[in-house]
Amino acid sequence: MSYPYQITSLDQYKKVYQESIQNPEAFWSSIAEHFTWRKKWNNVLNWNFATPNVEWFAGAKLNITENCLDRHLEKNGDTPAIIWEPNNPNEKPRMLTYKKLYERVCQFAQVLKNNGVQKGDRVCIYMGMIPELAIAVLACARIGAIHSVVFGGFSAQSIADRLEDAKATFIITCDGAFRGAKDIPLKSVIDDALIGNTTVVRVIVYTRTRTPISMIKDRDVWWEDEMKHVEEHGIYSIEAEEMDAEDPLFILYTSGSTGKPKGVVHACAGYMVYTNYTFVNVFQYKPGQIHFCTADIGWITGHSYIVYGPLSAGATSLMFEGIPTYPDAGRFWDIVDKHKVNILYTAPTAIRSLMSFGLEPLQNKDLSSLEILGTVGEPINEEAWHWYDEHIGKKKCPIVDTWWQTETGGILISNLAGITPSKPSWATLPMPGVQMTLVDDKGNEVTTLEEGVYKGNLCISFPWPSILRTTYGDHERCRTNYFATYPNLYFTGDGALKDENGFFRITGRVDDVLNVSGHRIGTAEVENAINMHAGVVESAVVGYPHDIKGQGIYAFVIVSNTHGDDELTRKDILQTVTRVIGAIAKPDKIQFVSGLPKTRSGKIMRRILRKIAEGETENLGDTTTLLDPNIVDEIKNGKL
Ligand code: PRX
Repeated sequence: MSYPYQITSLDQYKKVYQESIQNPEAFWSSIAEHFTWRKKWNNVLNWNFATPNVEWFAGAKLNITENCLDRHLEKNGDTPAIIWEPNNPNEKPRMLTYKKLYERVCQFAQVLKNNGVQKGDRVCIYMGMIPELAIAVLACARIGAIHSVVFGGFSAQSIADRLEDAKATFIITCDGAFRGAKDIPLKSVIDDALIGNTTVVRVIVYTRTRTPISMIKDRDVWWEDEMKHVEEHGIYSIEAEEMDAEDPLFILYTSGSTGKPKGVVHACAGYMVYTNYTFVNVFQYKPGQIHFCTADIGWITGHSYIVYGPLSAGATSLMFEGIPTYPDAGRFWDIVDKHKVNILYTAPTAIRSLMSFGLEPLQNKDLSSLEILGTVGEPINEEAWHWYDEHIGKKKCPIVDTWWQTETGGILISNLAGITPSKPSWATLPMPGVQMTLVDDKGNEVTTLEEGVYKGNLCISFPWPSILRTTYGDHERCRTNYFATYPNLYFTGDGALKDENGFFRITGRVDDVLNVSGHRIGTAEVENAINMHAGVVESAVVGYPHDIKGQGIYAFVIVSNTHGDDELTRKDILQTVTRVIGAIAKPDKIQFVSGLPKTRSGKIMRRILRKIAEGETENLGDTTTLLDPNIVDEIKNGKL
């Protein structure tokens, strides 16, 4: 298989970009021609950012799994679709060819049907990184059920909130998951999440850790039993559900600046075309290469660049169950060596963490199979970029710095590996069809250079196929969050610079969202969780620069009583946050304060807290409008 729409030179990129802007409809329909459709579209694009309403390939009928599986069977049925590396390096890896994956997906799709799952039903998936997770995702897509994958690090309360918001009726989970030295008791977390739940009718449980679990009669069933039943009926293939281009494919929850995560909804056709197009172009994928994206399928990166992008392109996708530092900090390099990985796509936080172990873990690791490296999730600092280039890519592998978001579905700004230029810590140029603009706080386009660059809030003025369609159950929230800050623009929430070549550098979030180890966490969410702890009167959470995580979480907390033990109270608060959100949201620092810097109208001046957390003591800006300016000194003196 080759990709006629793969860009192969800088000149061609420039030409294609121009064409994509001048005539987006002709451009995207020419790409879409290369997919399998039950019926072609009537209209390439309908859009209005005010409502917002965006439709791509309206009227078309398809099933994304026919593009990810069926269409590869004839020529590439024996090509590995998924190579799976277990958490424990002594356990045997698994490999599923396209034919095998097709069979498994069809069988599990039949299991879902047998259990009453119907088109449009919301299915929550809470599993570790095993091939069955990809199978579950694709099986949902096969029958038109909407999957909502929840990352294995979220707490029972977070799952309960997501189940409730999506009105999910089915759950697919495992008894447990192996992650590094830990066993995560997934089913037991699900059981807690289901206390008081009234919508879920069935839980399907795959056995991974063989941890003792409770199985509730008439609600919980074993994956293996259900699959056996289907096999006994000789089912290896089932017809895919015919989906409308704009039917929802999945919901994925992500944090924003409010206390409640939003269910970002992606639609079948546009998401498929765009993830495939960006996969093929950004990574310059060549059939036969092994693509290793280290993300978890619980995040958008895993959805788009482990599952849908690679599989729709007939690629071989490597899936890893464990963590980069288990059993030691050489694990990624062992995997590259063992499976002869050609493309490695990871996060700056992982690179920084592995860098901190020095070069020893790289010894005797053959990384010569690597051809292309990628990063995603947060700005990559130059030091990490150069380390990655020198020690992993041996200065022979182009590095793609890919900027995008859960809401964008696929990569929007990135160099194309080896085709367009790279620049350390710059994501560089927009993808074809993507029209970025920088605006000031009033929404006016920034047109004056400041020290050789334009600086502003990063917005997008035209739809691309995998733009989010809504936030589940609350379209108004989608409008106010993304389309209301600046009229007729999608606002990303990020700040950015643009140089004279049109290269973009993302400087980070300009809203109250933190990026901790590449994970998005809303400060309001963490505050809500801290405030749930008995004895906490009020709290304010800000980010601060963290060597490995990119940003750390700094909490200023007013407590009524620590019972004489600050340290224990800190631990109590951490427990509370873990219970309410999950361990990923635990503050790195908790400073007890007697008050917070507030304006006379009662608004917390986060700017001041942010500066203090960053270690700034002098230039805190204007503090005269504060209700009690003295509090600033107290907080400064108590800084951790
Ligand atoms: O701030 C940007 C940062 O991650 C945010 C999106 O987070 P999430 O929806 O969880 O998706 C992460 C994976 C796509 C963005 O608003 N971000 C993502 N990629 C980059 C980045 N910041 C700088 N450079 C990047 N390459």
